[in-house]
Amino acid sequence: MKKITIAIDGYSSTGKSTVAKQLADWLEYVYVDTGAMYRAVTLYAMQKGFISEEIFDKDKLIASLSEIKLEFRKPNAFSKAEIFLNNENVEKQIRTLQVSEYVSPIATIPEVRRKLVEQQQRMGEGKGVVMDGRDIGTVVFPNAELKIFMNASAEKRATRRFHELLERGDEVAYKDVLENVLERDHIDSTREDSPLRKADDAIEIDNSEMNLEDQFHIILQLAKDRIAGR
Ligand code: DC
Repeated sequence: MKKITIAIDGYSSTGKSTVAKQLADWLEYVYVDTGAMYRAVTLYAMQKGFISEEIFDKDKLIASLSEIKLEFRKPNAFSKAEIFLNNENVEKQIRTLQVSEYVSPIATIPEVRRKLVEQQQRMGEGKGVVMDGRDIGTVVFPNAELKIFMNASAEKRATRRFHELLERGDEVAYKDVLENVLERDHIDSTREDSPLRKADDAIEIDNSEMNLEDQFHIILQLAKDRIAGR
């Protein structure tokens, strides 16, 4: 069967990764969570003291980029691949609110984007890939056969994220999560290099009032149509 490239972009906490992973499992495609890559670079910058409340030393981070090695490894055949930063599994550490606060400024740095986009393009070379992020349909794979752009109200997204963080045992206030969602929307969509925007040929899905199952079936049908060349 023909293998295609599927790009799923959209605002933060729209559930992109959940549906992208479901779709990749169903189609037996590779799933790549590009947000995890930006988060891992952010964690590295935090560990090295290149970013904090007082500091944002872009130059030091740019000079160290060649020392950052990112890989996805699957703990077993059925689980989601987890991200490794220089051979250390950082899948849990990259999901904290603190990393979420610093990731958008880090993702504005063109040198960081160039490095990650090149790696993403290599990972998708053979097709049969579902990749989620902010610039997949516009920059990474402008020729992807299927492009989805996901959106939902900021309040719905913050509520989902808030519950996810609580489930993980993080003590956070809803107000801080909402603020972070709005702040990231703003930085991600107004940055100069590859801002978050819907590709002209992307299909927009607002899932504010949609359940996961309905959303999955809509996207799966679109993928089947594209695979069949429709
Ligand atoms: O999808 P996420 O929330 O884990 O992404 C974290 C941040 O990374 C997001 O606020 C913007 C940035 N990002 C990006 O600039 N480009 C991508 N392709 C993916 C994520």
